[in-house]
Amino acid sequence: MLKAIYPGSFDPVTYGHLDIIRRSSKLADELIVGVLYNKAKTPLFSIEERVRMLKEVTKDIPNVEIIPFEGLLVDFAKETSAKMVIRGLRAVTDFEYELQMSQTNHKLLPELETVFLTTGLEYSYLSSTVVKEVAAFGGDISQFVPEAVERKIQEKIKRRV
Ligand code: PNS
Repeated sequence: MLKAIYPGSFDPVTYGHLDIIRRSSKLADELIVGVLYNKAKTPLFSIEERVRMLKEVTKDIPNVEIIPFEGLLVDFAKETSAKMVIRGLRAVTDFEYELQMSQTNHKLLPELETVFLTTGLEYSYLSSTVVKEVAAFGGDISQFVPEAVERKIQEKIKRRV
């Protein structure tokens, strides 16, 4: 049985992430979406909120599980017995960081392989940061994130004003 992890911050999940989740859920028997809890960063959404939104938007995909993690990805892979890490590549600008990360992870845990999926062209410009920025200035984000996520972003922004 092949278990894979798709790790990320998902602050919040976008259609670009969802595209990678759907496609990689077909490559692995079980796909774990690993949501990073990073004490050093202040995300817009708490770890609980990010996990909840991911659960909501992936509820129709049977072999996907959403699990928060803290610390090293390789330790999370060991804990969950995952043998594959999935990352999306949007453009050449992603490549350097992704290469460094995958090579570091490979040094730390040689049996863990990273597989890159190229993001669908329609999502190649998309990032959680851009979505938050557009929303903060009152722009329409309905084409970037699922409706449930859009509502959560709007609530968050209203509370901050
Ligand atoms: O969505 P992101 O922020 O691009 O995801 C980055 C993530 C979570 C995949 C990466 O930061 C990560 O794996 N962090 C865990 C810490 C770790 O293992 N670092 C060593 C690899 S460089």
